[in-house]
Amino acid sequence: MADTGSVLNERLKALGDNAFVRLNQLLSPLSPPPDLGHIALSVGEPQQQPPALLAETLARHAELWNRYPPIKGTPEFRAAAVAWLNRRFGIARGVLDPEHHVLPLSGTKEGLYLVTEMIVPQNKRGERPVVLIPSPFYQIYRGAAIMSGAEVVAVPATKETGFLPDFASLPADILRRTVLAFLCNPANPQGAIADAAQLTAAMALARRHDFVLIVDECYSEIWDTAPPPGALGVAAAGGSLDRVLVFHSLSKRSNAAGLRAGFVAGDPHLIAAFLSFRSYGGPQVPLPVQAAAAALLGDEDHVEQSRARYRSKIDTAERVLAGRFGFYRPQGGFFLWLDVGDGEKAAATLWREAAVRSVPGRYLALDEADGSNPGAAYIRLALVHDDAVIDEAARRISAVL
Ligand SMILES: Cc1ncc(COP(=O)(O)O)c(C=O)c1O
Repeated sequence: MADTGSVLNERLKALGDNAFVRLNQLLSPLSPPPDLGHIALSVGEPQQQPPALLAETLARHAELWNRYPPIKGTPEFRAAAVAWLNRRFGIARGVLDPEHHVLPLSGTKEGLYLVTEMIVPQNKRGERPVVLIPSPFYQIYRGAAIMSGAEVVAVPATKETGFLPDFASLPADILRRTVLAFLCNPANPQGAIADAAQLTAAMALARRHDFVLIVDECYSEIWDTAPPPGALGVAAAGGSLDRVLVFHSLSKRSNAAGLRAGFVAGDPHLIAAFLSFRSYGGPQVPLPVQAAAAALLGDEDHVEQSRARYRSKIDTAERVLAGRFGFYRPQGGFFLWLDVGDGEKAAATLWREAAVRSVPGRYLALDEADGSNPGAAYIRLALVHDDAVIDEAARRISAVL
């Protein structure tokens, strides 16, 4: 008993406090000015509403709530996901087969977590397996890797590297032990987009060193001037889906974070293994939810409208913050990544003097061996509120920092 408990506890202990627990520890002793309304730019939760299509489709399928949904997803959902991938990323019909290349998820978070537990072996040719993550990173990549027992190697994604991780620069002994690498495209929090050549290079590296490449494309539909390429489009153009999985979500594309709907697509061997793995521990997606998700994937009008609104929020912030804190327009996603010198200090000041909550970049990245942290100078701001709130927040930031 004690032994089993200690293995689990070791890994949980290694997780430490997540970014939001740390943020609460930083801000809760501080009191913002009583006359200012609080503005939370800390959480990347859509504040726009999903289209009416969502609720209508759920209601139309209400007679299905009594049924156990198939873990593999309905043929209609899988067909809708493949049709969308084909349209969006210019993939030729027939390359992706709805039977073998796609699975529904209860949001990408659970899929990213569970697929890591499936992929990471106890050892790779007798050595400890490594999972590569960008730093800063979406917290689940690190948490899933730690809980799988892998060694986490956080690869700095800084201004110098174009805010993307340079996996190819890693030493041979790390790449030899690598079993999985996460790429976030567009990147949360920096908004950088890996182009087709960078995706091709990442896939080639994965195949050369025998690891799986996961490309988290959760923010692919929120872009500024050009739509990001998709890893499956690039893989299909190169003639092989080998070792590549992409993750897509309705949470950001359709402002439907509460629906808990997304999908994974790619290498059919990995998808078959994941189906088998999920049939034990994976959450099924309820049939009305799959119907609603399929309907949303079939509609681009609401996505275009939503994208225009996110662009307008960035315009609003730019009008106030341009030229300050290294402001740049994110190529994708809805976060600002501002260089404020000391992100932790700035986040405390912003809360205490301006009642604005932000996330210190340090909490989203890992300390390097030399004690530096690639996020230390930054704060992350989620531009999810309406323009008036963004304008007010930007003015307060500009005034107190
Ligand atoms: C980079 C990234 N990936 C995945 C997710 C998970 O989204 P969901 O589980 O809602 O699909 C998020 C959510 O914030 C995210 O920021």
